[in-house]
Amino acid sequence: MQFARLFVAVALLSSCSGSPDHTSAAEGGQANQQPVSLPDTTETLHLNGQQLAQAYCRACHAFPEPALLDKATWQEGVLPQMGLRLGINPSGSSLYMNKPPEEVTELMQAKIFPERPLMAQRDWDKIVAYYLQHAPDKLTLPATPAVAPALADFTVITPVLNKGKYALTTLVKYEPAAQAL
Ligand code: HEC
Repeated sequence: MQFARLFVAVALLSSCSGSPDHTSAAEGGQANQQPVSLPDTTETLHLNGQQLAQAYCRACHAFPEPALLDKATWQEGVLPQMGLRLGINPSGSSLYMNKPPEEVTELMQAKIFPERPLMAQRDWDKIVAYYLQHAPDKLTLPATPAVAPALADFTVITPVLNKGKYALTTLVKYEPAAQAL
């Protein structure tokens, strides 16, 4: 589902407004350049998963509808990553492991991963449940039209390289002297 996720990322981030304001959910602290307020965790008890997702996910970018991705991609891919940005780190694993020191410094300076949770765990659980309940099991992507063979004297040879995993553009050139491709 890489293609779908990339598409979603571009669509979402075109409305990105930077990091959320850490001061509103956690006590005290440093303000970021573009503060976006997160709800006060003492006032979110009555909100359902959808309302919580609207409040928290939109602190950083456009609201992503659950229908945009399949359940497994939400559960295993996107939500754990977004959770880390809200200080939800259930495995407690180091966020900076296997990263070069200069990247670690940049991540820390930019406060990408908050040290303390910026939201209540019960609210996060409701958001996850909301996405998993409403996301499709499988995404239906538009059918790609079959390639119509236009040149009668040519046959298609699928390149062994990359086994069709990613879209690659290759250049084919005809050598008239050797009569070869
Ligand atoms: C602290 C800011 C922040 C919050 C809060 C946040 N996001 Fe994001 N989100 C980002 C950034 C930055 C990216 C692009 C970089 C990335 O993929 O990690 C992103 C990317 C995404 C993408 C595209 C992922 C991909 O791999 O293409 C989706 C979908 C998404 N967010 C969903 C959510 C949902 C759902 C929530 C709420 C539960 C949420 N985000 C909360 C900052 C945030």
